[in-house]
Amino acid sequence: MYLDNAATSYPKPEKVYEAVLHAMREVGASPGRGGYRRSLEAGRILFQAREAVAGFFSISDSSRIIFTQNATGALNLALYGTLVAGDHVVTTSMEHNSLLRPLYALRNKGVELSIITAGSDGVVSVEDIRRAVKINTRMIAVSHVSNVCGAIQPIKELAELCREVGAFFLVDAAQSAGYLPIDVENMAIDLLAVPGHKGLLGPGGTGLLYAAPHVQLKPVIQGGTGSHSTAEEQPQIMPDGFEAGTLNLSGIAGLHAGIEFIRERGLSAVFEHEHVLLNQAEQALKNIPGVTIYGPSDPSGRCSVLSFIASGVDSALLAAELDHGYDIAVRAGLHCAPLAHRTLGTLPGGTVRLSPGWSTTSEEIAFFSDAVVQCIGKIRKSA
Ligand SMILES: Cc1ncc(COP(=O)(O)O)c(C=O)c1O
Repeated sequence: MYLDNAATSYPKPEKVYEAVLHAMREVGASPGRGGYRRSLEAGRILFQAREAVAGFFSISDSSRIIFTQNATGALNLALYGTLVAGDHVVTTSMEHNSLLRPLYALRNKGVELSIITAGSDGVVSVEDIRRAVKINTRMIAVSHVSNVCGAIQPIKELAELCREVGAFFLVDAAQSAGYLPIDVENMAIDLLAVPGHKGLLGPGGTGLLYAAPHVQLKPVIQGGTGSHSTAEEQPQIMPDGFEAGTLNLSGIAGLHAGIEFIRERGLSAVFEHEHVLLNQAEQALKNIPGVTIYGPSDPSGRCSVLSFIASGVDSALLAAELDHGYDIAVRAGLHCAPLAHRTLGTLPGGTVRLSPGWSTTSEEIAFFSDAVVQCIGKIRKSA
């Protein structure tokens, strides 16, 4: 049983596999790299996927969407593509290393960085962020939903703060895209980093960055774009200039199918399904003596993941027992977000994290909960 959809979603809907195979088997060519029909068809697949992404996030100009390998690629492009020495960035202690590490590297190049510690429930205070803003604050960068404890951040209020102080608002939607509604224009998001392979149900190796029309991005990868071939400089044309090299067309075709699947089901139905399963797991886990659950106490403040520890039980050992004894895949440890664990008080061992998906059933969550009881009992007994 796979309960690690926060890492990558599995299984994918059937139509995702079909779209990947169609692009690989029936089309095969690279988009924008030839005038022959196969390449034109590849270009159509790419364009339609971009339009689908635009529709999904209420983006009026789909050329502002740049396909990347994953959310990490999108975050790197957002940061390196906008920041220069002397700029100041405010971020939070709940961030993933995909945001923190490029920021640390940029700090070594003269970008100033303030990391605001969230509350012990993982929710960041808008007022704390406001207090960190300075005259040179160029960006406020936050994850919409914590990948450690599922805390939903107040992004509407943070967007308002960004407007007020004239800073770019970068949202890492790695754990919210495909679960929570995101309307970039209404929500005043300047830069949105999205993985294609998690909640959007596309294949691995897919992701995207949306950059609002007023964001002047610099390309971070130079290379062939299939156009302007005599130019020595990277053409700064959206989106081609930012997608140098051959794209993952079959992956992008699958991502389009994933988005279609969510649209057909309805985003709120997908969210509700997950929410019900997480609540079911929470109720069961709460009844196990010595189990602590992290994140906001009100389930409506959480999304996507549930993190817990059992006193006297090593999280990695519990996850290994669940895997070997019950064939249940959950993640244990720090989930690439060390500061988040410092905030929640779960260093050094981290937490056990479960993240159900669209195909997870209530029976599976019941089986998981029973297995946790058995495994904890076994580990405590052998200690
Ligand atoms: C909050 C957050 N940001 C960024 C990432 C990185 O995503 P990707 O693996 O698509 O690069 C993850 C992945 O788990 C995440 O949870």
